[in-house]
This record gives sequence, C-alpha cells and structure tokens, in this order.
Amino acid sequence: MSANKFRGKRGYSLVLLMLGLLLVLNYMKSTRPNNTATGQHQHAVISTDLRRRSMETSVIAHAPGFTLFENAYWRNYTWYFVTARPWAFPDLPMVMTNVPDYGQTTTAVFHNGLAKVILPTEAEDLDLDLEEVETVQGTTFFFNDKIYLKHYYHLVGEMFLGSWRVYTSVLVNPFNKRPQKTLQANTKSTLDQLPPIERFIFGYAPPQEMYDRAGMNEYFFDRVFPQVPLEFEESWQARADSLKLFRFDLVVIADRWSGHMKRTSKPMDYAFRLPAPSNWVSDLKDRMLANYQGPVSLKDPSHINSKPVITYLSRQEAHHRTMNPATHEDLIVGLKALEEEGLAEVNIESFTGKDPKDEQAAKLSRTTIFVSLHGNGLTNLIWMTPDAYGRSAVYEIQQPGMYTDDYAIISEALGIDHWIIGGRDLERE
Ligand SMILES: *[C@@H]1O[C@H](CO)[C@@H](O)[C@H](O)[C@H]1NC(C)=O
Ligand SMILES: *[C@@H]1O[C@H](CO)[C@@H](O)[C@H](O)[C@H]1NC(C)=O
Repeated sequence: MSANKFRGKRGYSLVLLMLGLLLVLNYMKSTRPNNTATGQHQHAVISTDLRRRSMETSVIAHAPGFTLFENAYWRNYTWYFVTARPWAFPDLPMVMTNVPDYGQTTTAVFHNGLAKVILPTEAEDLDLDLEEVETVQGTTFFFNDKIYLKHYYHLVGEMFLGSWRVYTSVLVNPFNKRPQKTLQANTKSTLDQLPPIERFIFGYAPPQEMYDRAGMNEYFFDRVFPQVPLEFEESWQARADSLKLFRFDLVVIADRWSGHMKRTSKPMDYAFRLPAPSNWVSDLKDRMLANYQGPVSLKDPSHINSKPVITYLSRQEAHHRTMNPATHEDLIVGLKALEEEGLAEVNIESFTGKDPKDEQAAKLSRTTIFVSLHGNGLTNLIWMTPDAYGRSAVYEIQQPGMYTDDYAIISEALGIDHWIIGGRDLERE
C-alpha cells in the first residue's frame, strides 16, 4: 500500500512538473522575438560572444610563406600565437624565417626567438598580459623580408600578390565562417568585400630598400592603396623598444624563404594554389583606373563583338636584352598583317620612364594579347583584364638558354594563357 501511495504521489508530482514545463515552454514561445530568430541566428550570436571573450590567435588562411592570422601578438621582435589548439598551426618555418638576417647567415632558418605558439596558460609565464595590449586595428600586411624588395616583380608580383591571394582566398573558402562575418555581403569588388588594408609594414627594411629605380613599386602602392601608410624598420624598431604587447586584429605575414621551404621555384607557388575569386587581381586595376581621365579608351576588351587587342611592348630602346632588329621588324610585319586582315587591333608600344604610368596601365587593361621580351616590364600584365571568352594570352619572348617561369606563374594565376617563345636549351632537354 505504502509503496503504491508513494508511486501515486510521485506520478502526481511528475504531472505537475510536466505542466510546469509546458507553461515555461509556452511562455518562452510567446515572448520569443517575432523576427527571424532561427536556431542558426542564435548560434551566430553565441559564437560572436565567445569570440569577443576569446582573443586567441587563429590561422585563417595559410600557404608556405603567406599566413593570415587573426589576433596575432607581438612584442620586441617576437610573434606570439596564443591558442588552446596548437596542433591547428602550421609549422612555423613555413610561416617565417630569419631571412631579415639573410646575407649574414646565408641560410634561411627558423629559431624560436622569431615566433612561438603558446597555450593561454603559458602567456602568464612569459609575462604577457593579454588584457593589456595595444591593438593594431584592421588588416596589416607584414613583409618579413629585407632583400629583393627593390624590384617590381619580386615585391609586387611575388610577395604582394602572394599575400593578396591568401587574403582574397577567405572570400571563397566555404570553411572560413569566421572572417566572413566581418565582411560586407556581396559587393562586387574583392577590395570592397574584404576589411580594408590599414597598413603595409616592411619591418626589416628602410624605405630606400623598396623604391625601385623605375618607381613602379611606389606607383603600385600609391595608386592601388592611396592613403594606406607604409611603415619601415624604424617604426618597427620603435614598437619593439616600447616593449608593449601588440595585438594585430588581422595580419598577413609574408616571408620569401618560407615560401621556398617546399622547394618551389617561386615563393608564391603554393599561395597561388589557394582558391580565389576570379577577379582577385583585376579588381586592383579597376580601383586604380576608376578615376582615369586620360586619352586611352577603356572599353571593355572582353566584349564578344570586339576584336582582340594585341599589344607588342618593344624593348628595343632598352639598354640590355633587346631583340635582333630584323626579328623585331618581322614580328611587327606579322602583327600588322593580322590587323590588315581585320582579325585584331594591334598596338606597338615602347614604354619609357617618361610615359605616364597610368597610361601604361590603361593600355594594358584593354589588352587581350600581350607580347614582350622577358623583363620586368612584363609585370605590367597584372593590369590586363582576363577576357571573358578565354582569348587572353601573354607571349613572352626569351633568349636562348633562358629557363624562367616568373611570368608564367602570374599569368596563370590571373587566368591568362602564357606562352614562351624561344628560351630553353632544346638540345639539352
Ligand atoms: C514584432 O516585433 C516588432 C519589433 O521588432 C514589434 O514592433 C511588433 O509589434 C512585433 N509583433 C508582434 C506580433 O509581436
Ligand atoms: C628585446 O629583444 C632584443 C633582441 O631580440 C633583446 O636583445 C632584448 O634583450 C629584448 N629586450 C627585452 C627587455 O626583453
């Protein structure tokens, strides 16, 4: 009897409990906001909150030599990547080396004075107060190099474009949920979709190490990223001397020799294998020429009814590496014949230091087929607009025995065919 009674009582309280739960559920339902508070939305709110509490470092995109970090810490020349998931980090020699000392050491190596992956608990032992940081806001591109900066192809073609590829890859990587939240939705240009670059830091170089004689590097950064400050070794040193702990919101660290760690011929080989929006480079040019008022007509060369525009950039005026004059003349005759047959528009150009660089870029931007001798001037192919009908191509004329893929890699990364004429020692192959 007593056992039954007990059961009965328990049954009674269970009913009460269930009624109570129903009431609570009902109440929750009626007070639930009538907007689209779906489970997904609530989840987003929760993870944002977590994110705000956690200032742990994460790797958002990586290829050897080019790594995009969120919340990277730095004090007195050492980077600290603070994480409870150290296994999620790439090998640090793939991120950076002591290459600023290159020349003294001759080999690029990593040592743990450069960077450390540490647990949050280890931060305390290192006297790093993660709450007391100076925030370096927005996106920073950090070039951990000292050599090869004073050269348009090596700086812009390799190190900047490698960094930019890693950065733009977050726009098309379906696994990168986190950065996408900070992106504005669906504007066309990659530049408008990504948080803007707030500064370029050359931590180990004085300004004169990055200005090339032709002024192309300066032109590139001034025109594509106007107002974005460039910082050099002096300001990096001042940050170090302050002994403050800095937290970089978003930073791409670029390191030439890390880019070569996997024995690639070009430091950005792996970076260029990351997915990216198809207009990842032409958007840079579009921004630069947005206010162009010069004489070159910027009609869209990809229009189906328009003839391909062939530009032959002659180097016959250059001091070295020119073509045999007869061959040069033959080439012009051949190209002009195409024009006479109505197959293409043909322009013979010979850019000199005197030609305004905007005009050079404008001419390249409407070029479908670019023909030139191997040389730094070919870096200008980054201003081409890849043709929607797949006609874009670069024909690079090389001297016998030459064996270099510099411009092939960039062309292909832009979606432009690349052909080498000459070059290679055929007997040896
Ligand atoms: C829905 O929410 C809006 C404000 O978010 C409020 O003005 C409106 O009265 C609500 N409607 C109902 C039916 O609760
Ligand atoms: C700062 O770094 C330099 C170079 O690595 C080192 O010699 C110096 O002792 C460091 N200063 C402090 C206060 O840790």
